[in-house]
Amino acid sequence: MRKPSMLMVCCALTLTLVGCNTSNQNETEEADTKPAESKTEQRTETPADVPKNTEDEVVEETPTAEAEPPAEDKPAEEETADEPETEEAPVVEAQPEEEPAQTPSEPLEQNGMANVKLDTLILVNKQVALSADYKPSDLVTANIDFVDTATGERKMLRKEAAQAIEKLMAGAKTAGIDLKGTSAFRSYEYQVQLFNNYVAKDGKEQAMKYSAPPGHSEHQTGLAIDVSSASVGYQLTQSLEQTKEGKWLADNAHTYGFIVRYQRAFEKETGYMYEPWHLRYIGVEHATNVHKTNVPYERYLKQLMD
Ligand code: DAL
Ligand code: ZN
Repeated sequence: MRKPSMLMVCCALTLTLVGCNTSNQNETEEADTKPAESKTEQRTETPADVPKNTEDEVVEETPTAEAEPPAEDKPAEEETADEPETEEAPVVEAQPEEEPAQTPSEPLEQNGMANVKLDTLILVNKQVALSADYKPSDLVTANIDFVDTATGERKMLRKEAAQAIEKLMAGAKTAGIDLKGTSAFRSYEYQVQLFNNYVAKDGKEQAMKYSAPPGHSEHQTGLAIDVSSASVGYQLTQSLEQTKEGKWLADNAHTYGFIVRYQRAFEKETGYMYEPWHLRYIGVEHATNVHKTNVPYERYLKQLMD
């Protein structure tokens, strides 16, 4: 009876040991499997990590994303500045210059000399002159296309007018209008040569109809520019009026702060023949008023000062 019991004990021990091994192996397999599963779980649970990665990416993107929101806000602001930018910036810039100009106590001229305190509204004509040494202090080269004969100072305008003509040219280009500057700032000395050449060529009486005597040219203010188009060979000719470019100028120049200064209807008042190419900067608000009321600039200023 003892032997069988011994065998039984051995068998029982063997079975127990085998069973333990089997159990361990199963655990190990499960462990190998679990790690993978747990990795998967971790990946799944570590969404925190995934998110982090995502966040990290987002973080990198966030700056852009965060930068965009402000950008979106700015766009709103810029739109306010852009829409106006097209017309808004001028409005903002126009305020400072217009206030002093609208001061009734500010005379247009004194003893035939222009009042430079009128700033961009300065009046210069056949009766009112600039001194020989007057030269604007804020001349800059206008970043627009000029004809080849326009060089040096003649590509310059006062800063505000330069920015305005750049916008005008950009607007023209967008509208399919081809224009180039032919002559902007002209010094007193340059006007002396120019006027004398015209007088020598056509005589003083005739020259006076299209060229200002030295000191009397708006080009010396740094606020005037002549423009022309390929359609008329970039010449300063009244036939510019018949071209789409001339018509575009007549219809749109005021929205950029310019007036076509010498109109056909006002030849007797201005003393100059019609010049569809001569643009004078006075700011968007005033230019729009002049355009709408359709009066010579002299008359507009006097009405403003009354
Ligand atoms: N052609 C214009 C009148 C000027 O010479 O200023
Ligand atoms: Zn001119």
